[in-house]
Amino acid sequence: MSRIHGIYPLTQGAAQPPEPTVVPAVDPQAGEELRKFKSQLHHRLVMSMDLTAMVTLSRDQLKNEVRRVADELCQRSANLLNKQERERLVNEVLDETFGLGPLEPLMSDPTVTDILINGPRTVYAERHGKLELTNVTFSDEAHLRQVVQRIVSQAGRRVDETSPMVDSRLPDGSRLNAIIPPAAIDGALVSIRRFSAKPIQAADLVRNGSMPAEMLEFFSAAVKARLNILVSGGTGSGKTTLLNVLSAFIPEDERIITIEDAAELKLQQRHVGRLESRPSNAEGAGEISTRSLVKNALRMRPDRILIGECRGAEALDMLQAMNTGHEGSLTTVHANDTREALGRLEIMVGMAGFDLPTWVIRRQISSAIHLVVQVSRLLGGERKIIKVSEVTGVEGENYLMQDLFVFKQTGLDERRRAVGQFHATGTRPNCTERLAALGVGLPPELFQRRVLHPTPR
Ligand SMILES: Nc1ncnc2c1ncn2[C@@H]1O[C@H](COP(=O)(O)OP(=O)(O)OP(=O)(O)O)[C@@H](O)[C@H]1O
Ligand SMILES: [Mg+2]
Repeated sequence: MSRIHGIYPLTQGAAQPPEPTVVPAVDPQAGEELRKFKSQLHHRLVMSMDLTAMVTLSRDQLKNEVRRVADELCQRSANLLNKQERERLVNEVLDETFGLGPLEPLMSDPTVTDILINGPRTVYAERHGKLELTNVTFSDEAHLRQVVQRIVSQAGRRVDETSPMVDSRLPDGSRLNAIIPPAAIDGALVSIRRFSAKPIQAADLVRNGSMPAEMLEFFSAAVKARLNILVSGGTGSGKTTLLNVLSAFIPEDERIITIEDAAELKLQQRHVGRLESRPSNAEGAGEISTRSLVKNALRMRPDRILIGECRGAEALDMLQAMNTGHEGSLTTVHANDTREALGRLEIMVGMAGFDLPTWVIRRQISSAIHLVVQVSRLLGGERKIIKVSEVTGVEGENYLMQDLFVFKQTGLDERRRAVGQFHATGTRPNCTERLAALGVGLPPELFQRRVLHPTPR
């Protein structure tokens, strides 16, 4: 019998005849052979462990047991390996079993921002906005799944054939989405959004050309004056990053409640309550919806509510909150333009199941949302804030919106990266009086029609 619950002995019970150990004896000098040997040793380890029970054991208990199993395998089959070599091999396999395995080098590289895995042999990484194929591989599909399983079970989630999609978080705060067969046709697909230990700050966005300093000055005043701001953008365009940057302008004495699917925001303030939604469990119970969290947040006397991403019915509760004294709330939405973002909100409000007339929804939206900010990942990988629109009302079918700042792309440089210029459109926003009344007035010249240069003033 296994000494620790959760790790099976190499043979599981008397009913099953001992399976012959098939790990071959190898010449330790032969790199390829060693790699194969390691992969087989790893496979044997995986086969001898009950992965679901692993989470209940302490890390040290697990390590000891795995070391014992690995040592035994090595001794039995690889007499050619000397003690030192065996120790190294055992350590490598332990790393793969307890760490992130082949992903470790990518995870410890601070320039990697995204890791995209298309099955065990194809791992892409994004650095400086550029996605490239890496030489990282997993031994096989089972190995990849095992790493995924381990990551998600640490966060109390699961992924299997009956529930093949999962959103989770790594211990360092990175976000992970995995989808496995049968939903993924050719093997597991994993997307990891690295969490940077040093989050991008407002000044970084000006320095790296994501926005001009004038735009940042406006955002700072808008957040302080409690405007409700909707950040809109495509996948990976920088919505969460901008939300985080905007949140930094919230005064320290305000109570903030954040609501996210997978907690990513890193607020600088101390008075923050963080909530996280949760999908249902295998029995279809235990779901914590974003909507229920928004409703609950309203009972927590928040000054501001930050919703990481608005995707569904919670839009209705969020708009109501924004319209009823929780101004200064911030959220993001998946859309390609500031006007489209409001259309997306309408659809989401519809998901709440009330048969509200469109004009009522539009009125709610136009009075709740003050600003819509469009972020975009441009050709070549650079992220920019390409439009800031103010919502001024609704007339008939249409929202009344005015653009305050825009980025106009003029072409591509020799490396096929987008180039262009930021412009202040010359429109003085309706909110200027509100900003002034709240002591964060801005000089009218800030909005004067001209080209803005994304360098610190
Ligand atoms: N303005 C920026 N300049 C440089 N890098 C950025 C910028 N904005 C975001 N990034 C980087 O781009 C990646 C995606 O950013 P982020 O998570 O904010 O996007 P998102 O739109 O929220 O993505 P998703 O749709 O997956 O939620 C991150 O690695 C982030 O560090
Ligand atoms: Mg995001």
